[in-house]
Amino acid sequence: MPYAHITGWGMAVPNRILTNAELESMVATNDEWIVARTGIRERRIVRAGETSSTLAVEAAWKALGCANLKPNELDLIICSTSTPEHIFPATACLVQDKLGANKAGAFDLLAACTGFIYALNMGAQAIRSGSIKSVLVIGTETLSRFVNWQDRNTCILFGDGAGAFVLQANQEFGGILASVLHSDGSGGDLLSVPAGGSKHPASEATIRSGMHFIHMDGREVFRFATRVMAQATREVIGAAGLQIQDIRWIIPHQANLRIIEAAARGLKVPLEKFIINIERYGNTSTASIPIAICEAVADGRLKAGDKIVLTAFGAGLTWGALAAQWSGPLPVVRKLRPAFYRILARLRSLMRRLRLRLEGWIWGRDKA
Ligand code: ACO
Repeated sequence: MPYAHITGWGMAVPNRILTNAELESMVATNDEWIVARTGIRERRIVRAGETSSTLAVEAAWKALGCANLKPNELDLIICSTSTPEHIFPATACLVQDKLGANKAGAFDLLAACTGFIYALNMGAQAIRSGSIKSVLVIGTETLSRFVNWQDRNTCILFGDGAGAFVLQANQEFGGILASVLHSDGSGGDLLSVPAGGSKHPASEATIRSGMHFIHMDGREVFRFATRVMAQATREVIGAAGLQIQDIRWIIPHQANLRIIEAAARGLKVPLEKFIINIERYGNTSTASIPIAICEAVADGRLKAGDKIVLTAFGAGLTWGALAAQWSGPLPVVRKLRPAFYRILARLRSLMRRLRLRLEGWIWGRDKA
């Protein structure tokens, strides 16, 4: 049975930085309160023209470059997001087109901040089954588009960004070792965007009452998070047949520094075992774990052979954890040139659109 190794990774965040000082001029808050209660100092926010798929594609090109994999060698694209570009088509399909991954299936997965763990698990299981060989797993969010910038309870927390991993089949032991996934829909109302779906389609009333914004019971979510992060971490370490001392790094969902500190206390491990970058990005939901991992690889903390645990919680409610052995990229056979494939994908997409238009025109003319 092949193992699913993480052979490529990449991240993308918008250039625009929104600091706590700037938020002070928008809502009744201050830098001291935000840092003390959350650990966040700044976050990245998309500009006009930047979307969940543009961030996803940027991260994906980096991951493919790292794995030396051509887009048309991908079998599957799973895009985890709570902020898709549309209800449909799936953001994963927009990414598939922009990459020119013309042999890949593509779908979105929604498990909020736990989404990247769910998506990695799904991708790894597909590889483990032997049915496919390579998967692109993306976590991408533009939460700033759903934040009420007049609500100090939520607007200080969230940021935008994306992270992508390439998973590839390999007979050698390693990669994704175990995962645990949980949910409890009875807590769905603790964190939600109430309107815009089939229950409350967009109307003047839903817009007037702010139902398209993120609504959150912060205290309850906090309580839930501090309970489940350590629990899921312990569970997955057991499922992988490991002990906590075997784990080099724990990479938690970056929602609140105090939640991560509570998880460390619950696990009786020092905070230094955790990879934390919440101060610079805030809560980027499903993107927070891959972004933290990309930074840890870049600065040399995370090395090939390290055993790691990813742990998260989020809306749904959902929570889960995943244990992995970090692989590092496979030996390079030939160096991929992402710029070349980027242009090729653009041309192919244009040709496909043109062909569809032409076929439609011919069909219409024949009917007439
Ligand atoms: N600036 C100043 N004061 C504030 C702010 C702010 N930005 N926000 C709230 N306050 C006030 C409150 O109004 C309250 O005042 P009151 O006592 O007069 O009513 C006081 O500060 C304390 O409020 P609490 O809600 O008790 O503050 P707490 O310490 O719990 O921190 C926070 C609030 C940061 C939201 C915390 O509860 C939290 O992080 N919860 C988890 C949120 C989370 O992780 N959400 C994402 C889940 S993942 C996903 O799926 C997207």
